[in-house]
Amino acid sequence: MKTPLKVAVTGPAGQIGYSLLFRIASGAMFGPDQPVILQLIEVPVEKAMQALEGVAMELDDCAFPLLKGMVLTSDLSVGFADANWCLLVGAKPRGPGMERADLLKDNGKIFTAQGRVIDEVAAADARVAVVGNPANTNCMIAASKARRLTPDRFTAMVRLDQNRAQTQLAKKAGVDLTAVKDIFIYGNHSPTMFPAFAHATITGEPAPAVIKDDAWLQGPFCETVGKRGAAIIAARGASSAASAANALVDHVHSLVTPGAIHSVAVKSEGHYGFDPNVWAGMPVRTTTPGSYEIVTGYTMDEFAVGKIAATNKELTDERAMVAELLG
Ligand code: NAD
Ligand code: LMR
Repeated sequence: MKTPLKVAVTGPAGQIGYSLLFRIASGAMFGPDQPVILQLIEVPVEKAMQALEGVAMELDDCAFPLLKGMVLTSDLSVGFADANWCLLVGAKPRGPGMERADLLKDNGKIFTAQGRVIDEVAAADARVAVVGNPANTNCMIAASKARRLTPDRFTAMVRLDQNRAQTQLAKKAGVDLTAVKDIFIYGNHSPTMFPAFAHATITGEPAPAVIKDDAWLQGPFCETVGKRGAAIIAARGASSAASAANALVDHVHSLVTPGAIHSVAVKSEGHYGFDPNVWAGMPVRTTTPGSYEIVTGYTMDEFAVGKIAATNKELTDERAMVAELLG
């Protein structure tokens, strides 16, 4: 029996939490032979803590063999203590008519305290994955508070966008989803994100050669993927939850699977024209569990360079908006 991993999750009583915790406890995130202890951190509000008690009762009632314990707390230093993974979901979601960046004022400050406490009390091998929006910039804020944990330990999720892009390409080409490979997301988790269709393949051929519709790829495809979150809010009256939880399972699972190549927002090293001080989506290759290297070999055409410049500008603008929260 392996030693249980301690997995801290913020916002466990929320919509995403309700889809996420059961997948972690069932083994979908870390594998069928990896026990876990869930360290669940909610806001110190009676209603939220009460709802969390209910979620914990349901987790108990699932009798998951891999779930070796739960901690329910609103104290960050208890919740993040010795955590191997810190999944930062808890934050306000946007409503209709808002952009994710509109959440920066309310959500940004959540990540200052969390970044500081994680750095103080989490395990030596701690990894952090940020979901709360705007995810890239919140991740940068949390990482800026760390003195012990290096910036590469802090990642933000763009996997939902990768999954969305894969499905859109498969539908357009009329092929099974699994025929679409190597579609990666560059930049911000926002409408400016760039799904780099030119590098994707469909049944082994370049996606543009199979789809034969560059106007669709450059227009409706990029727009549909970029605005999918808003479309879901318009349809559902609430932001994506089950698909977001599923994407976080994929994000972490790929990060613990050596050899996996997948889209993650990481601290830029200046590749692809990104400012070196932003967290931008790009393809990474997992090296050892929890560690990765940026995949640098892709050539960008003029269209891609323009799209990356636009999403990079948005990221640097967001950084300027939160300058007082950094460092
Ligand atoms: P929700 O409102 O249903 O749940 C949020 C939960 O977080 C609530 O239980 C709330 O009490 C808790 N919370 C708030 N502040 C907290 C804090 N400081 N510490 C601990 N818990 C806290 O929202 P949701 O639908 O679960 O969405 C959560 C976040 O995820 C939102 O910001 C949303 O925009 C974002 N999101 C990101 C992606 C992505 O792809 N990156 C996808 C979907 C949603
Ligand atoms: C999404 O992409 O579905 C989430 O980021 C929620 C949102 O606000 O769009």
